[in-house]
Amino acid sequence: MEKFIINGGHKLNGDIYISGAKNAAVAILPAAILADGPCILENVPMINDVSVCLKILSEMGADVKMLNKSTIQIDARHIRDTVVPYEKARLFRASYYFMGALLTKFNHAKVSMPGGCALGDRPIDQHLKCFKALGANYSIESGIVEITADRLYGTQIYFDKITVGATINAMLAAVKVDGLTILENAAKEPHIVDLANFLNSMGAEIMGAGTDVIKIRGVKKLTGTQYAIIPDQIEAGTYMVAAAAAGGDVTIRNVIPKHLEPISSKLEKMGVIIEEHDDSLRIIGSNRPYERMNLKTMPHPGFPTDMQPQFAALLTLSNGTSIITESIYEDRFRYVDELRRMGADISVDGKVAVIEGVDKLTGAPVKAADLRAGAALIIAGLCAKGVTEIEDIFHIERGYEDLAAKLRAIGADIVKREFPGPDAMRIAM
Ligand code: EPU
Repeated sequence: MEKFIINGGHKLNGDIYISGAKNAAVAILPAAILADGPCILENVPMINDVSVCLKILSEMGADVKMLNKSTIQIDARHIRDTVVPYEKARLFRASYYFMGALLTKFNHAKVSMPGGCALGDRPIDQHLKCFKALGANYSIESGIVEITADRLYGTQIYFDKITVGATINAMLAAVKVDGLTILENAAKEPHIVDLANFLNSMGAEIMGAGTDVIKIRGVKKLTGTQYAIIPDQIEAGTYMVAAAAAGGDVTIRNVIPKHLEPISSKLEKMGVIIEEHDDSLRIIGSNRPYERMNLKTMPHPGFPTDMQPQFAALLTLSNGTSIITESIYEDRFRYVDELRRMGADISVDGKVAVIEGVDKLTGAPVKAADLRAGAALIIAGLCAKGVTEIEDIFHIERGYEDLAAKLRAIGADIVKREFPGPDAMRIAM
């Protein structure tokens, strides 16, 4: 079993370089299936979710080559297999993007339901509704979704709720159909725009990504391309909060400041000083407690749910009472008990957490319940007095490349250590 061991209380100073976006990469890699030639992808984050995705592509018959540490070439022309088995699909949530990509390419996909995860109920009804509207039929048996179509055609789809995953799957499924598809009430996250830009660089005709109406005119052929994935908004946000919480002066490099505005504006409201440059942000932490704050998670451009646990960690040490309302997931407060073990004063009632600021956190043995819950514990550990040992760090490594090394380079005392005993069962997000 591996753990992160953090000796808290060190200020952070220096530069930290942000990797490519996880949630863009896990959509763009399956999309490479659609190209009639090799795709070269740059700025690919080397995280566990990407490794699993690449393994699925290779096992299906794609030729996958690492050109350097963050550049991959995928030639999917020889893929014949249209099945993603349970053992792989359960490892990460985004395995469902193989449904849309395989359906478009082969008029058939057989993909296990994405694995259970720790954020409450996460149905895929909106994904299936899109496939059906485009002319496909589906069945679910023994946990496997099988989707087939004789012919797919353009249509108009209104999402009953705003969903990142179904918006992406609908774009993947509609990109080569006959005619025009219009997606209404679409999600607007930066990685949706990134997928649209990637597909357009292959010859697709997608307009309006980043607004709530996306129009996709089906094309006959998509070619190979060379494309750089956007920087990870949530990795950047996590280090911004870490720098604010631990104090010090940190420059976060390789970012798109516009994508970070929902995060920067909240930090500034609490009293963190942020200097914005073209592709970097400088975070200057304070020695005094930050102001309390209320926040509510919302789809982009609202405050991202994937930053909610990290802000909770920061607010545990703020001045007064803060209220967090989680409006995307049913159960995204599974880090609260762990923060309480470190001295935080938090109570939860349904989708609302009330945080009373305390003077200090103290190091403790804790467990990461999911990826961003783990990020919250890292932040708490960096400002706690004493040693924090974080278990189940495979959750964290699904989404953060070289986390300990990046934090050490700016002055944190954090190491990854092997201990006897197995990791808990790996489940997907
Ligand atoms: N939903 C439905 N039906 C559907 C799809 C979604 O009811 O068919 C609900 C979900 O249960 C949830 C809400 O709609 O309550 C939003 O779900 P969405 O589809 O937007 O989320 P997702 O595609 O499952 C992606 C990210 C998550 C991120 C959310 C929201 C990936 C692989 N995952 O999930 O990332 O929290 O969008 O921005 O892109 C993370 O990185 O830590 C993470 C959990």
